[in-house]
Amino acid sequence: MRVGVLTGGGDCPGLNAVIRSVVRKGVQEYGFDFLGVRDGWLGLLKNDVVPLDVGSVRGILPRGGTILGSSRTNPLKHDNGLHRVRETLTAHEMDALVVIGGEDTLGTATELSRQGVDVVGVPKTIDNDVSCTDFTFGFDTAVGIATEAIDRLHTTAESHMRALVVEVMGRHSGWIALHAGIAGGANVILVPERPFDLDQVCAQVMRRFEINYAPIVVVAEGAVPREGQLIVKDQSLDEFGHVRLSGIGEWLAQEITARTHKDARTTVLGHIQRGGTPSAFDRWLATRFGLHAIQAVADGDFGRMVALEGTRIVRVPLADATAQNKVVDPALYDEFEVFYG
Ligand code: F6P
Repeated sequence: MRVGVLTGGGDCPGLNAVIRSVVRKGVQEYGFDFLGVRDGWLGLLKNDVVPLDVGSVRGILPRGGTILGSSRTNPLKHDNGLHRVRETLTAHEMDALVVIGGEDTLGTATELSRQGVDVVGVPKTIDNDVSCTDFTFGFDTAVGIATEAIDRLHTTAESHMRALVVEVMGRHSGWIALHAGIAGGANVILVPERPFDLDQVCAQVMRRFEINYAPIVVVAEGAVPREGQLIVKDQSLDEFGHVRLSGIGEWLAQEITARTHKDARTTVLGHIQRGGTPSAFDRWLATRFGLHAIQAVADGDFGRMVALEGTRIVRVPLADATAQNKVVDPALYDEFEVFYG
């Protein structure tokens, strides 16, 4: 059997760990052949594939990024896109495809699966917003990076008695903001799921100054003020129709200064959250996802995504996992009420 492996969408730490475990188990246990697809779906549009064997996945476990490259290419937005994808699969006699991606990449995998291509999905994203899995790999690393940044910002904020706003990633969901904000002891945590009230944010900031502490505000890039709109970097859209976010942190710092007359500055963590070596947990999760994904291929159990349920890896229908994003439950957000303000 010949299996293609593809990584699509924004990269995240742990992609290489999945590739490694898929190939190791696939070759050693099932005697499969592998081809790596370059740059996500783009590689199948352009017929750009490379051989993948045990030798080529040696030493990549701790490496961030993806040895296969990634892109936000959406075959459905290209002339005859799905047809070209299928042609490449046929030309290389690929019997099955392991697709490692987030909502967009796995959404395309769902469509291909509907059209009869044998696909198994693996959920990745630092945003942790893929449904039907407790966690995606990459998230733990991003939370660790953001938490360390918040720890560092506390001391400088206190030296200067100023408010520091930390903008983290999270387009539709505030998982990184909530986890890192709580782990880092932030006073205000703003998530896309809950439009925020600027007066309340300023009151929480002032309360902190009043007890002689410097406030730390963590804001997800997709958070929106109740009386306002999403702040975007520019008007351009990617092939999945997403705008480029970032800017809410700077806007918030300016508003805080204007309304409280306190000095407020912004740190945008950006792609630092996506780069570098994966945490031990992400290597563990990515490795398990890879082992179970290739087992699903061997079982002929296609149209499925591997997922974490408690401590078990299970298989769920790809269509269920990609039907909607997994967002922060309001009850979970409210659990930390005592720390806000
Ligand atoms: O999809 C994950 C994500 O990290 C989002 O939180 C963020 O909006 C986006 O990627 C940024 O992607 P890009 O690197 O393509 O600008």
